[in-house]
Amino acid sequence: MVPNKDEDSIPHADHLTVFFASQTGNAESISRNIYEQAQERGFKAAHYVLNDFAKVDWDKEECLVFVVSTTGDGDPPDNSTKFWRHLRKLKGVGLTKAKYAVLGLGDTNYDNFCQTAKRLDTRLQELGATPFYARGLADDATGLEETVDPWIKNLWPALAHQVICTPAVHDLPQPHLTPEEEKIVKSLIGKGTDPGQLPPSTSLKTSSELELNLNEKADINTLSSGMSTLSVSVPAKEKDSMAPFAKYRIVVDFSSMSNHSSLTGLPRVPNANLKITEGDSTTASGSKATSRPIPSFIQTPTPLINAKINSVQCLTATDALKRTLSVEFGFEDDVDYSPGDAFGIWAPNNESLVRGVLEALAVDEHDQNKNIKFEGEGIPSHLQPVKSASLLEVFRYSVDLTSVPKKANIRLYADHATDMTEKQQLMFLASKQGSDQFNAFRAQTPTFLDILHTFPSIKIPVARVIETLPPLQPRYYSITSSPLAKNGHRRWSCAFNVVTYILPEGVNRRGVCTPWLDELAGLVPFGKAISEGLEKTVIPIFLKPNETKFNLPTDTTRPIIMIGPGTGVAPFMGFLEHRSEQRKIKKRLMNIGPRSQQQLDDLFGEMWLFFGCRHREKDWLFKEQMETYKEEGILTELHVAVSREENIPNSGKYVQDLIKKESKRLWDLLDKKGALIYVCGDAKGMAKGVHDELIDILVTNGGFEKTAAMLELNKWAQEKRYLRDLWA
Ligand SMILES: Cc1cc2nc3c(=O)[nH]c(=O)nc-3n(C[C@H](O)[C@H](O)[C@H](O)COP(=O)(O)OP(=O)(O)OC[C@H]3O[C@@H](n4cnc5c(N)ncnc54)[C@H](O)[C@@H]3O)c2cc1C
Ligand SMILES: NC(=O)c1ccc[n+]([C@@H]2O[C@H](COP(=O)([O-])OP(=O)(O)OC[C@H]3O[C@@H](n4cnc5c(N)ncnc54)[C@H](OP(=O)(O)O)[C@@H]3O)[C@@H](O)[C@H]2O)c1
Ligand SMILES: Cc1cc2nc3c(=O)[nH]c(=O)nc-3n(C[C@H](O)[C@H](O)[C@H](O)COP(=O)(O)O)c2cc1C
Repeated sequence: MVPNKDEDSIPHADHLTVFFASQTGNAESISRNIYEQAQERGFKAAHYVLNDFAKVDWDKEECLVFVVSTTGDGDPPDNSTKFWRHLRKLKGVGLTKAKYAVLGLGDTNYDNFCQTAKRLDTRLQELGATPFYARGLADDATGLEETVDPWIKNLWPALAHQVICTPAVHDLPQPHLTPEEEKIVKSLIGKGTDPGQLPPSTSLKTSSELELNLNEKADINTLSSGMSTLSVSVPAKEKDSMAPFAKYRIVVDFSSMSNHSSLTGLPRVPNANLKITEGDSTTASGSKATSRPIPSFIQTPTPLINAKINSVQCLTATDALKRTLSVEFGFEDDVDYSPGDAFGIWAPNNESLVRGVLEALAVDEHDQNKNIKFEGEGIPSHLQPVKSASLLEVFRYSVDLTSVPKKANIRLYADHATDMTEKQQLMFLASKQGSDQFNAFRAQTPTFLDILHTFPSIKIPVARVIETLPPLQPRYYSITSSPLAKNGHRRWSCAFNVVTYILPEGVNRRGVCTPWLDELAGLVPFGKAISEGLEKTVIPIFLKPNETKFNLPTDTTRPIIMIGPGTGVAPFMGFLEHRSEQRKIKKRLMNIGPRSQQQLDDLFGEMWLFFGCRHREKDWLFKEQMETYKEEGILTELHVAVSREENIPNSGKYVQDLIKKESKRLWDLLDKKGALIYVCGDAKGMAKGVHDELIDILVTNGGFEKTAAMLELNKWAQEKRYLRDLWA
């Protein structure tokens, strides 16, 4: 218990407000979990998205918990921009009453790890607020749960130290298990096979190891029912494995499960809030994809546009490592945008996956198509607009069936497994003791259907599935075209790799959006451009203006350095088309003849492009266009790195190698002509390699000390002289 204080000086400690800022739903669901736990502990809790900051009286709210992710290149999520504008305007130390805790979500593959959380923490302290608990920074690269679970667990005692709470607030044991779960956890004690008889490794089995086990086992397709035969679950690669989203059994070695006498760190199961009731009798669609209307519950940050594919071209050779397509989308109304902007595509989940899941959940054809609506306090924000839809539509457009499952979901599935062995395995996977197994499980990127297939005794109500699966996310693509080109306001082009891959276990996996587009566009072969006879499926798209000013400078004389290997070159193709059109316009307006090219060149700054591919003949994307822009003088310099061919004159392996070669000239361009640097593409390796090389340029040519060079580059980033559009 906390010490007794004068009632008047007692802060409203049993009030707790939980805010979230989330781009793809993780921070929202984690903050909801905190909010629900707070309620269970007797707090008068509230839960808001950060942009709803005005719903709370900040002068009175003493206890605030923030769960915030980072997006873009160290940027705050879209649903917190209004809050940030407000926070910037605040002056003085007006938040002295506020006690707060910040949980940041990020990914160490990005340079600005958890930047939003760090900025928020600093700004709140500047405004006089006091942190009551250490900041948590969770890393998606290694698994958010590693940080999030202990952070939440210790949040409650930290709160208790700071504030006065009702006894209930302190006393609730965490995590609380149902009597049945207690039994399962206890039943693990001493019931396993002699560990000595089992393979010591808990890691994922390789195909060859599995072959051996396959030969030893009589029944390869059923999960063994007793603990003593849990050592290997054998993958049952289905006969229809080449079909999209065939079901797979996930392979996890549970042999060490019996070594553990108890399970700890079990996550809390999210509350059941969602009620599915009958909707009105209109809409609902089980129709074919081609004629299907886009459901009204899809919420996009900018207006939804019904687009169709105008044309498609395959940019890579049949034997290239990746298949890259250039696709143009057309629509009826003009849309304003700038090169550097991207657009979102709301691709549905694969139809066979959706049907497979509904079948596995025992939802019959009639119920799949029946009109329903969602009700319930505190249901996730992406489900709130579902007022008249069918379950088919919800599973197609609203829930994510393919991203890595969270431990809390695994624990929920354990609750609903009717077979004791499956229940134990699922509980083990969700526990601290089962971390290695969970990682092996994650590495196989199982779909929700795979989980149901691997643990067929899970009998879970469809409402629980819908409210606990993450929201389906739109996929974004940089626009490769210019609004100044013919019909430029009614078409957007993009370039993307088709995401299909095979796991070491021989399992075929595919992305949600790009294989869908590839199929809609007719799986065109290499080199072929098709604009006739394309299936006229309506594709829901919307504009995503670039928030970080990754656009061409308004001063057209300013030189720009563009760095983008692979599909990272996408926005630069838009820049180049735009510049080409700008030149045409100027030429017409100023009546410039062919002899006065210099006059025209003087109006436009230099454009340098550093591009990277693996083989010049296989994956040099937009080769022809680049060479034409070069011949026309639009592209001043073109440097192409080739990573998997030897001894190419004047080239190098990676873009940063070519940047090094041009170090001196680049420095002149930066120093004397104030060039802007743009980097686009992979955040993991390329962006870091290029960043280091730029530091090197400043050191070698600019005379900076290394630390000063790093600071200078950071300054350039803040001044928007060094711009990055990255994706891990
Ligand atoms: C602002 C912005 C702009 C973008 N612009 C472009 C662009 O112009 N062009 C472009 O191509 N992309 C771009 N992207 C990325 C794009 O939005 C999608 O993420 C990408 O196309 C994949 O979508 P998908 O639905 O096909 O695959 P998803 O369903 O999202 O699947 C992708 C996931 O599959 C897994 N995966 C993929 N390959 C493997 C593998 N070999 N082994 C194991 N797991 C694997 C990874 O978890 C990966 O995250 C951009 C992203 C953003 C945020
Ligand atoms: N606006 C955006 O945010 C945006 C826009 C477009 C694309 N993207 C993203 O950008 C990424 C581009 O990747 P991609 O798949 O198209 O390219 P990619 O094909 O994987 O790679 C292109 C070239 O880059 C090389 N490369 C590999 N590691 C590198 C490193 N550390 N430094 C420099 N170069 C390196 C590759 O060489 P090797 O493989 O031979 O090593 C290859 O030659 C994708 O993730 C895509 O989604 C983002
Ligand atoms: C396009 C994109 C950009 C990202 N940029 C950053 C970044 O700059 N720094 C960082 O730490 N994490 C970054 N992340 C990782 C996210 O913060 C992380 O995946 C987090 O779990 C997302 O939480 P949310 O679903 O609540 O938005 C990025 C993720 C994406 C998809």
